[in-house]
Amino acid sequence: MANPELRVTVPALQRKKARGERIAMLTAYDSPFARLFDQAGVDVLLVGDTMGQVVQGHDTTLPVTVDEIVYHCRMVTRAVRRALVVGDLPFGSYHASAEDAVRSAVRVMKEGGAHAVKLEGGARVADRIEALARMEIPVMGHVGLTPQSVHQFGGYRVQGRGEDGHARVLADARAVEAAGAFAVVLECVPRELAREITAALSIPTIGIGAGVGCDGQVLVLHDLLGLGEAAPPRFARQYVALGDVVRRAAEMYAEDVRNQKFPGDAESY
Ligand code: KIV
Repeated sequence: MANPELRVTVPALQRKKARGERIAMLTAYDSPFARLFDQAGVDVLLVGDTMGQVVQGHDTTLPVTVDEIVYHCRMVTRAVRRALVVGDLPFGSYHASAEDAVRSAVRVMKEGGAHAVKLEGGARVADRIEALARMEIPVMGHVGLTPQSVHQFGGYRVQGRGEDGHARVLADARAVEAAGAFAVVLECVPRELAREITAALSIPTIGIGAGVGCDGQVLVLHDLLGLGEAAPPRFARQYVALGDVVRRAAEMYAEDVRNQKFPGDAESY
């Protein structure tokens, strides 16, 4: 059992905001990467429904199921000693009712071992967040560009521009806090708006494409490590071109197999 003193908890994230300490969050979908990110001191690991795109190869996050989130949460939570693990509630798992939201969240925590859940939307899902918070299920909100609404938005577009857009995202962030969320992701919104929301809320804001003024930042693993098929989005920073390293290693291996250079004496019994 991990030393509970070392664990990142929901109250610890709130203390970080109060002290002005930034929160580092990444997505993770399996044990090896979860272990490495945890050892690196990343505070929060999100088992995100981005798995639909970066792991499963779909165009959107919509096909991801609760069963799949549970399965990947298990892999991540087995490897983690310190980070807070948040499991995403996928499309359709909280849309029909607050009861659905509670049922889905209980599965993600009970079967997947996640410490908290995340769902997308502001005022329109406030009753879901309230229902979860009432059951003491820690819930992270997600406003601005909410990828599960891609067909409503007509694409992955920056949100919160113009007077109406600005007011809508600000109202959504306030609704998420008022409903009882412990933190909120701000995705693809102008940096001034993200700064304003961060100052207005007492819960931490975690930005992705929302500028440096948020209380924390989140990136998708495949963007951080250069493992995606396409170039990462403008807001992401690729810290290493791991895809090139992996491809080169596989080429070298295949060449050695074809030339009978692998296995060698030391690799044989
Ligand atoms: O599913 C996900 O990975 C996310 C992040 C992009 C915040 O929601």
